[in-house]
Amino acid sequence: MHKAELTLDPAFAVAPVHRRLFGSFVEHMGRCVYTGIYEPDHPSADADGLRTDVAALIRELGVTTVRYPGGNFVSGYRWEDGVGPKQDRPVRRELAWHSTETNQFGLDEFMRWARGLDIEPMMAVNLGTRGIQEALDLHEYANHPGGTALSDMRAANGSPDPHAIRMWCLGNEMDGPWQLGHKTAREYGRLAAETARALRTAEPGLELVACGSSGRSMPTFGAWEAEVLGECYDEVDFVSLHAYYEEYDGDLRSFLAAPADMDRFIEEVVATADHVGARRKSSKKIMLSFDEWNVWYLSRFQREQAEDPPTDWPAAPRVIEDRYSAADAVVVGGMLNSLLRHADRVTAASQAQLVNVIAPIMTEPGGRAWRQSIFHPFARTAAAARGQVLRVEPSAPRHDTALYGEVPLLDAAATHDSASGRAALFLVNRSTDTPMEVSVDLRGLGGMEAVSALTLSDDDVYAANTADDPDRVALKENKDVRLDGGRLTAVLPPVSWTCVELAGTAPA
Ligand code: AHR
Repeated sequence: MHKAELTLDPAFAVAPVHRRLFGSFVEHMGRCVYTGIYEPDHPSADADGLRTDVAALIRELGVTTVRYPGGNFVSGYRWEDGVGPKQDRPVRRELAWHSTETNQFGLDEFMRWARGLDIEPMMAVNLGTRGIQEALDLHEYANHPGGTALSDMRAANGSPDPHAIRMWCLGNEMDGPWQLGHKTAREYGRLAAETARALRTAEPGLELVACGSSGRSMPTFGAWEAEVLGECYDEVDFVSLHAYYEEYDGDLRSFLAAPADMDRFIEEVVATADHVGARRKSSKKIMLSFDEWNVWYLSRFQREQAEDPPTDWPAAPRVIEDRYSAADAVVVGGMLNSLLRHADRVTAASQAQLVNVIAPIMTEPGGRAWRQSIFHPFARTAAAARGQVLRVEPSAPRHDTALYGEVPLLDAAATHDSASGRAALFLVNRSTDTPMEVSVDLRGLGGMEAVSALTLSDDDVYAANTADDPDRVALKENKDVRLDGGRLTAVLPPVSWTCVELAGTAPA
């Protein structure tokens, strides 16, 4: 049995738990929109064609924001194709994913869907094949109160009230050669700055996100952020980060350490942004929007694409419908811990994506919807993390990994809400073969009692949920959790994720 220790003390608060950390992402890609959230012929569809079975799962997941409509898709998208009478909307060739876009779902449908689920929209503009004017047009259509051509068009299309979208992404992954209209850092930084200035002239209170690198492994990572922010530091509020992890060649040890790599990635972007700020003698801090993160078996997708390049143009094809295992869910839990640990600078995040496409929720066209394994750590963390993130400084054994060097075997994060007196602990045992006893000093919190202790683990770490067996990987009560005085002891199985919720015994 490994042993580890940590302390929860409300005096060591990192930052508030920003609700935007529990965001997601809906791209017009594969079956995320069509037969995912929207399927007019589905038995559960409402009058707007939205699947209510999927909506119920999204509510349970606890998603707070959704980035839309891409991803790579946005870099070739004409937003106006997706508004107005459906029968008049053009069918287009979609180049990012080599498919056909019917435009039966667009901005107004997205906004109705998001508002119905109490989800804050995060709108991406096309800075690949388009520019400042089209971004302004989209903003006029979406947010201008009325009395202009495009805002009146919105009203005529059934949305008299402005959509009031506050957060806007200035393009997507503009450093990636795969991106339509991809740019050098200087070109993109200038365009982001000019688009931001124009949008802010239209509406000063917008929150704007500049594209960071599309990944830490990009050859231009670091230099890209520095040069882009060098151009647009004063005009934007956020820089974006994207990271996808997968298990390579059975190296489960490294895979479980992926959140440690995410920690480094975040800290490097913070350092780079602050370096630009220091050069400018600016008191402003750029926040981080981790607006694509997840487990994604990307190398499999790339191999399949290389071996069998797409030749046809299907509508809503099955693309990257990864089936997630118990181990994948444990890594997702660790990634959520990484976001929480950096809550002072990461104030927005979007798991990519929401339905069917590398997603926590899967559907059958015309049929069932179910939760993938990764649904569970997301839903529990979104529900339990409240108040302030606490710095926990665990002391735990460490081991070496081939990809990410030496990492602690315990990955921990914690939150405490002084208003309700509740606390939550999120614990990952990264050992592939040995349980871990974690001892937690709670004395700083006063009298506490354990409300629940739920663990995700499986004798078969590669077990996954399916439509026929939707609860194969789920949360189970952890009976090896004890609270004695001011000390909590929990035993974590190998390759596991655990959430312990605590409540104060005295009234808050
Ligand atoms: O989420 C899938 C894709 O990954 C997105 O379209 C793109 O932004 C990223 O490369």
